[in-house]
Amino acid sequence: MKVPINVPIIEKEEIKEVNAVLKERSLTSAANVGGKRVQEFERLLASYVKSRYAVAVNSGTAALQAALYALGIKQGDEVLLPSFTFVATANSVVSVGAKPVFVDILPENYTMDPLDLKKKITKKSKVIIPVHLYGNFSYMDEISEIARNHNLEIIEDAAQSLGTSYKKKQSGTFAKMGCFSMYAAKVTTSGEGGAIVTNDKGLFEKLRKIRNHGMLHGYDTRILGLNLRLPEISAAIAKVQMKKLSRFLDKRKKNAKILTDLLSDLNYVLPDERDGVQVNWYLYTIATANRNKIMKELNNKGIGATAYYSIPVHKTPFYKNSTKLPVTEWAANSVLSLPVHPRVTEENLHLISKILHNLGK
Ligand SMILES: Cc1ncc(COP(=O)(O)O)c(C=O)c1O
Repeated sequence: MKVPINVPIIEKEEIKEVNAVLKERSLTSAANVGGKRVQEFERLLASYVKSRYAVAVNSGTAALQAALYALGIKQGDEVLLPSFTFVATANSVVSVGAKPVFVDILPENYTMDPLDLKKKITKKSKVIIPVHLYGNFSYMDEISEIARNHNLEIIEDAAQSLGTSYKKKQSGTFAKMGCFSMYAAKVTTSGEGGAIVTNDKGLFEKLRKIRNHGMLHGYDTRILGLNLRLPEISAAIAKVQMKKLSRFLDKRKKNAKILTDLLSDLNYVLPDERDGVQVNWYLYTIATANRNKIMKELNNKGIGATAYYSIPVHKTPFYKNSTKLPVTEWAANSVLSLPVHPRVTEENLHLISKILHNLGK
């Protein structure tokens, strides 16, 4: 694709830092606190999102798993989450033995519908996982109130929303734990990687053990953990990327604004920010009944327009579930994400607009 939907932006600073790791031969650390770069990355992330603690792990999936382990979620427990998400959210729940219960979304920003959430709560419900999909911010005030009333915990799936904020507070910091991903396509990357942020010291200490086979000093497993450690090469990249995050997000915002201006005369549902929300524009997602035709035309012309997610989790062969989620199904058939990442030029955006306007004729 001439203009891919997202690209990792690796510059000389990342290369220099990775080379330093190689020269030092400090590839990883099995210490409870992690390696030097892991700790530096954690400090930068915690400071950016204004959270007391951050624990780096080797993927966003691992971050969700670790958070579920930290809350003691197990077989017999139900976890409420949207079906309209990347499958990792649901897989992390199944991986700890719990049952995913799928909640519908709002057509306005593709995040969890608080009214449907309320209807799906049972005696077995333990945790709610709202997903800030595309960088859009879930209705956390409403979701938090429901959680309080029903004595449920919340883990934010902020894999796609690093840098998104609501009333100047960063996504991922509205609940006990927030989980981020640094997969190659995200707003900042380490190739593979993830992190959990929390203000709770007890959870922080638990998460560090869970990352490292439940050990504190080594060979003294105290709780169940796994090897979820982030390698130092990845942490080196992640650390440098944190320093560039604001620059990356500024460019995404500019591109999103240009695209909205260019497309506003067309009959598409365009993405928007609700009052108080600053989205990170991880994905600029439109909705239209002609989605497949439009996607094909854009792809044929080298534009990496992509449908996230044309098969919602509850419709995949593994999860095959008869729950009726009408808005999720509408979204799965209608959404189309267009490239706005920092390497997208104004010329690229005009080309996208031209293709879409020609299609309309
Ligand atoms: C919403 C969501 N949750 C979880 C994940 C899992 O992250 P990772 O791919 O780093 O395991 C991703 C991303 O890939 C995601 O988009």
